[in-house]
Amino acid sequence: MKILAHRGYSAKYPENTMIAFQEAAKMDIWGVEFDVHLTKDNQLVVIHDESIDRTSTGKGYVKDMTLEELRAFDYGSWFTPEFAGQKIPTLAETLAVFKSTPFQINIEIKSDIFEYPGIEPLIANEIHAFNLEDRVIISSFNHESIARFQQIMPNVKTALLFASLIVNLEEYVEKLGADAIHIPYYYGMRSIVQQAIKNGMVVRTYTVNDAAIARQMESLGMDAVFSDVINL
Ligand code: G3P
Ligand code: CA
Repeated sequence: MKILAHRGYSAKYPENTMIAFQEAAKMDIWGVEFDVHLTKDNQLVVIHDESIDRTSTGKGYVKDMTLEELRAFDYGSWFTPEFAGQKIPTLAETLAVFKSTPFQINIEIKSDIFEYPGIEPLIANEIHAFNLEDRVIISSFNHESIARFQQIMPNVKTALLFASLIVNLEEYVEKLGADAIHIPYYYGMRSIVQQAIKNGMVVRTYTVNDAAIARQMESLGMDAVFSDVINL
């Protein structure tokens, strides 16, 4: 089964940090997934939540702080004290880790709550700077963000994220011209998904941390799974 390390190797290391990415990069897996937000001074940073409250020693929204302000906090000690000292990574720092690997790199644009105007061209610039057009998959729950990104970089693969399923799924995905969908694993058995797979749709499921569920996903025809534990 193809596995994407979800937020890096997040079962063993603090999610979306350099140590989580460096350790994921050592594993024999298909790729990595991580989440990107925009700072007050228009810097691309890798973190899951809109705020830094859960995964750092600080408080507040990413959008309200500069990169320098965000870097003042610790993003490892919330996980365990041994990881104290981890800083919030930039997108460039994260891409640099995976540039020398064969990994697929799934960048999730976290523009579904705050829209972060201008985030799509900034991400495209970084992908171009690292010459990673052929190994990046752009995904988002904000499908307007996906449409904007496709206009800028039509040669980079995209995936639509869904938290729940919709009617006319296949027509919708085809209309938006996305290469894949990313859905919760527990929807994998739904007939609408199974029909789409039969018709050639690429479907990946999140978040699979159990070997039996990973095997089930494979038998259901999923292309890949997102996993925190990686070793499935
Ligand atoms: O991209 C799959 C998965 O990461 C989406 O959910 O909340 O973990 O970003 P979330
Ligand atoms: Ca994500």
